[in-house]
Amino acid sequence: MSTLTELTQVTEDAARLYNQIIRGAVKESTTLLKTTAEAQIQGKLVFGNNIDLMRSLECGKVQLVYIDPPFFSNANYKSKHAKTGKIERHAYTDEWPGGMKEYLTMLAVRFHFIKHLLSDTGSVWVHLDWHAAHYVKIIMDEIFGEENFVNEIIWNYKSGGSTKRYFARKHDTLLFYSKTDKYYLNIPKEKSYNRKLKPYKFKGVEEFEDELGWYTLVNMKDVWQIDMVGRTSGERTGYATQKPEALLSRIIESCSREGDTVCDFFGGSGTLAAVASKLGRSWISCDIGASAISAAEKRLAGIGAGFELIKIGEGAGSSACDGFRPKARRAGSLAALTGCEPGDVSGLRLDAKSRKHYEKLAAENPLALIDYWCVDEDYDGIVFRPSAYILSKGGEVEKSAELKKPGKRVAIRAVDIFGRAGMCILEA
Ligand SMILES: C[S@@+](CC[C@H](N)C(=O)[O-])C[C@H]1O[C@@H](n2cnc3c(N)ncnc32)[C@H](O)[C@@H]1O
Repeated sequence: MSTLTELTQVTEDAARLYNQIIRGAVKESTTLLKTTAEAQIQGKLVFGNNIDLMRSLECGKVQLVYIDPPFFSNANYKSKHAKTGKIERHAYTDEWPGGMKEYLTMLAVRFHFIKHLLSDTGSVWVHLDWHAAHYVKIIMDEIFGEENFVNEIIWNYKSGGSTKRYFARKHDTLLFYSKTDKYYLNIPKEKSYNRKLKPYKFKGVEEFEDELGWYTLVNMKDVWQIDMVGRTSGERTGYATQKPEALLSRIIESCSREGDTVCDFFGGSGTLAAVASKLGRSWISCDIGASAISAAEKRLAGIGAGFELIKIGEGAGSSACDGFRPKARRAGSLAALTGCEPGDVSGLRLDAKSRKHYEKLAAENPLALIDYWCVDEDYDGIVFRPSAYILSKGGEVEKSAELKKPGKRVAIRAVDIFGRAGMCILEA
């Protein structure tokens, strides 16, 4: 059966699944970590399936949803860690045994939830490429209404390869729909250079000059030229398919105001969360993968964002996984890492080469497996409240941290290069 013929089935299945899920029970969730006092918490980083998260959120409260889901690329994405470049960690899978129908149904169920969560002035942006954007637009027309289509934005970039078999594919497609016709949109201005770069001197038209020549300011058009995150860029997290902050800034600033809630349900390394923090929005970023969540946590800690880390769904509540455990001790006013138990890595999908490098590292210098760690100077046994984050920046992570006002139970939470978190408690 052709995909076109299957589209009706996709929308029917998605509507049925949505109704089943929304009537079902909300999944258990647990706050694992809070970076600052409750009043300053600006965001929620949620580890789990986005369906479980969406099911738990209140209707009509979200101003903007941006999602950058898998693209139906039939690929497995791996990330190289800056510190241990030879070890490739699994990032996420974009393979669909049930083909386009399965992929579109997965998205369509989520579109129903997104529509339910958006406020009347809200909008949704879906980031895709040539693999599925044409089908997704039809599904979005059906769920959000053709009349609520606002734009198809073309994000054009230079990076990536080319082939002799087709013109180099250098753009992604962002489908932008509103919830209602009362949507909020503040269109930025951009430069439009005059022909021959000379002044026109038209009456009432303000003109400007820069090093290239004369221009006017016009409402931004729907083709955006923004560089991808380069290898040496300061915003690079190492997470596969990370999107540029400049792209997210433009979307967030156009479609939300300070204090509004913005969400990314396929959050990856937390690009939306990082930008939203800087722009004073409340945010929710969700991902199902441990390596995405750790990349986002490290990034957000690095910019001093106030957020909580929440686990939702299966196994909520556990903060350690697969036996990975840091070892630490207290020495006077210092907490110092002394080693770690690497735990079981059989579930991590390491290829033979990465496994070999991992085994060598685990035997020779297990501390090199730790990507970042944080200290709670007075752990209450429930929620981890870090007073300090110690982040590796390319090289090995610093091994000790000064304790300012240690209480009875100092706790150390460390995250390894695969995104696995483990804890140890240092009793006074
Ligand atoms: C293209 S990446 C997002 C990259 C992100 N925009 C960034 O800048 O880093 C897609 C992400 O969706 C996540 N994902 C896939 N299915 C999910 C689900 N059901 N719930 C939550 N996250 C999911 C994957 O783990 C992956 O990190």
